[in-house]
Amino acid sequence: MTQRRSLLHRLHAPLRTLGRACLVWLLASTCALAATDTAPRERMRLDTGWRFHQGDPPGVDGRLDYDVRPPVEENVDGQDADTRPEEAARVQTQRPVLKPWILPSANPLIADPADRHVRPSGDPGGDLPFVQAAFDDGDWQQVTLPHDWAIAGPFIADGPHGGMGRLPSWGIGWYRRTLDIPAGDAGRSIFLDVDGAMSYSTVWLNGRLVGGWPYGYTSFRLDLTPHVRPGGPNQLAIRLDNPPASARWYPGGGLYRDVWLVKTAPVHVAHWGAHVTTPEVSAERARVHLDLTIDNDGTAAARVEGSTTIHELGADGRRGDAVVARIAPAALRIGAGGSARTGGSVVIERPRLWGPPPTQVPHRYVAVTTLARDGRIVDRIETPFGIRGLRFDPDTGVHVNGERIVIRGVNNHHDLGALGAAFNLRAAERQLEILRDMGANAIRMAHNPPAPELLELTDRMGFLVVDEIFDVWERKKTPLDFHLVFPEWHEPDLRAMVRRDRNHPSVVLWSIGNEVGEQYTGEEGAAIGRRLHAIVREEDPTRPTTASMNWAKPDMPFASAFDVVSLNYQGEGIRQDPEFEGTDRIRTPPQYDAFHAAFPDKVVMSSETASALSSRGVYLFPVSPEVSAPVRDGRGGDSTIRQVSAYELHAVDFGSTADKVFAALDRHPFVAGEFVWTGFDYLGEPTPYYDSRSSYSGIVDLAGFAKDRFWLYQSRWRPDLPMAHILPHWTWPGREGEVTPVHVFTSGDEAELFVDGVSQGRKKKGAYEYRLRWDDVVYRPGSLRVQAYRDGRPWAEARVETAGEPARLELEPDRAAIANDGRDLSFLALRVLDAEGRRVPTADMRVRFRVDGPAELVATDNGDPTDMTPFPSHERDAFGGRALAIVRALPGRSGSVRVHAEAEGLTTATTTVEVVAGEAAE
Ligand code: GAL
Repeated sequence: MTQRRSLLHRLHAPLRTLGRACLVWLLASTCALAATDTAPRERMRLDTGWRFHQGDPPGVDGRLDYDVRPPVEENVDGQDADTRPEEAARVQTQRPVLKPWILPSANPLIADPADRHVRPSGDPGGDLPFVQAAFDDGDWQQVTLPHDWAIAGPFIADGPHGGMGRLPSWGIGWYRRTLDIPAGDAGRSIFLDVDGAMSYSTVWLNGRLVGGWPYGYTSFRLDLTPHVRPGGPNQLAIRLDNPPASARWYPGGGLYRDVWLVKTAPVHVAHWGAHVTTPEVSAERARVHLDLTIDNDGTAAARVEGSTTIHELGADGRRGDAVVARIAPAALRIGAGGSARTGGSVVIERPRLWGPPPTQVPHRYVAVTTLARDGRIVDRIETPFGIRGLRFDPDTGVHVNGERIVIRGVNNHHDLGALGAAFNLRAAERQLEILRDMGANAIRMAHNPPAPELLELTDRMGFLVVDEIFDVWERKKTPLDFHLVFPEWHEPDLRAMVRRDRNHPSVVLWSIGNEVGEQYTGEEGAAIGRRLHAIVREEDPTRPTTASMNWAKPDMPFASAFDVVSLNYQGEGIRQDPEFEGTDRIRTPPQYDAFHAAFPDKVVMSSETASALSSRGVYLFPVSPEVSAPVRDGRGGDSTIRQVSAYELHAVDFGSTADKVFAALDRHPFVAGEFVWTGFDYLGEPTPYYDSRSSYSGIVDLAGFAKDRFWLYQSRWRPDLPMAHILPHWTWPGREGEVTPVHVFTSGDEAELFVDGVSQGRKKKGAYEYRLRWDDVVYRPGSLRVQAYRDGRPWAEARVETAGEPARLELEPDRAAIANDGRDLSFLALRVLDAEGRRVPTADMRVRFRVDGPAELVATDNGDPTDMTPFPSHERDAFGGRALAIVRALPGRSGSVRVHAEAEGLTTATTTVEVVAGEAAE
């Protein structure tokens, strides 16, 4: 950034004021050669130059607390996820806290002026050394954003920390850096845009308290303008205060998403102020409507003219030169310190529609809007969008552009495994690629809005998205969760999500809550739901709302408050087996028909299914004859090794395996589809073994390696892909002569299994059966082969052989060339092989990774939920014969990187990753 600035400063005067955005635009020759008296918008990523420190300076003594928190008397770790949420504890105290100074940050997102907050006088914290420019932070840690302060560990082996991932995410963290604001910026509006800060952020600039934001998942803007001193360095200080016992999963800690400095002319498009809708869509024509909110931060009224051109956006995110359509210029007057709205629409003939693959293509457009004042350009923004028709039909589900799209979705939390909560575009893209390969077409953002770039990815790749905001409302699930701030913050947080995300074609549904306690509070809870629904409607009248229900039944007030009925586990029934009789936990008979009958005009879908549990590559015996059973010792689970069998026959007590879910969906074709809990394993919530670090519910493990059920989903979700998958592995020294069942997942309808070439019989899937099983096979070293058939014809084949002793390592990068932008990653999969090149599925030896060249080893993993080796470690035990190394190029350097993996007595693996100049695609 410094380099860029000095380059700009060398340019002659009129150009200098243009700033980078318009300079780029000039070079692209779309910028009218109108001089500008104030530079149009600049948006700079503040990723480098930060110093970080944990803990407050002496003497703070609670005066920087956002509010007084109730004491955490009892934090039950490992409580069932379907425990009834409790009423909030109340605290009475008069001690001074920061809340009155933070609340005004929410004002732009509070609709009723009477509800907005007035900042009290005074400047709390202004006297603290950490907020002063003179403070020497030289011994603080140098960090680059996005940054998660807890992911490096070490893991906390003891205590009630399993729910939050056994990593030290709670506590106080300070971030400092300077902002160089040139004298020429005087008179401009200057903002800090934070994509996500975990959590309770408070921001000071030049020793003045600017504001802050409690909820760690919301993107927010703070106005720095009144506190900026143009003409030199300005000291920025951000304090985060992440409460313990505040989440049911790993939240991460720190400035874990991007932070931006935005500079505009005083008259500019408001934050998230461009809203594109497509009120008419067909293959022949689409009407595109743009609604613009423009702010005037100046001291005099202003007249501006807004004009918009529409261009195609390529799959690579590049804007096409050709103007596809123009929205006629609209003039408006905005009073000093005020805002005004304008709008306009245009018809696009034969639009290129956005839709989910494989049957459709996610085409996108971008609206380029300029604001001119007295003939001078004062602002310019780009708003990507898609044109798609969306229809929710109670009998047939979701239709995109007239085509019925059965939802084949997964839930995912926000962490990226060994990288933690720190957002990384490539890591997120890799997750989506793996899910796409399985056949997934939809993601539910459980249970909070994602990093904005993730929605860029889902737009580009064509996933359908449920964007979700809250896991709790007024009633709590953990002692210090969001319920503490719900009364003041539900409106600004909810408006922030919808305003930020409403132009994304991938977002098809707004979810206002997940299994909230207000399901239990009758009319009162439903009234909160209706209020939240109304807020969403004000921000976006085009998409339906929902809230996921694991308890509310059709006759309860909560169930009718939203547009779409989202059931968690209730479709298949909860704890229906006789063994659960007498429990005080939720027990519910299957509910699809009851909801469909009670709400004949609403779509019913399953927002959470399964919660099936397994550890990749771990098979436990005896194998359950059932299709879906809870996990107990000797029945799918082993609490001494804290692993769950990968025969994929077990689930949480309130859940079901994939097989059972598929049957329930096939019996109820009106259901729009499912979101599996979960696509990927995540940090925290390690049901059923809370001494572990990460979950067992992913279809894919924490390292990104597929568990067996990946192929069960693929067999259903990609029915036209000829595939067959055999489980378990066939390397069982010591099991010779013992019954070792063999199961097969295939998109065929029939298969024949051969053990050492001898047929074990040909089996056909019966009605509502999704796997083929040969439960009497007796193990002896050798081979398994399956020949699958479809409609009687050979369809797919698979083979598994007994592996020999480990002999060598193999390293395979997911991409052999990465960009040197300091962010791009290569994920290297390690396999332990025998002399014949077969993976040794029992290999668990220690592997050491080494990197030579212009890159660094960021983290390693193996997907084992019990592995407490810190993620940055260069040594990692193989798990099921696999491990993962994540490599990042050093910024600005290029050349060949050699990655080595070594283990005692085995042939070393070496592979090359090229580092090339440029930026990873965004
Ligand atoms: C659900 C809940 C999820 C997760 C899951 C675990 O009830 O909505 O957040 O806790 O259970 O099985």
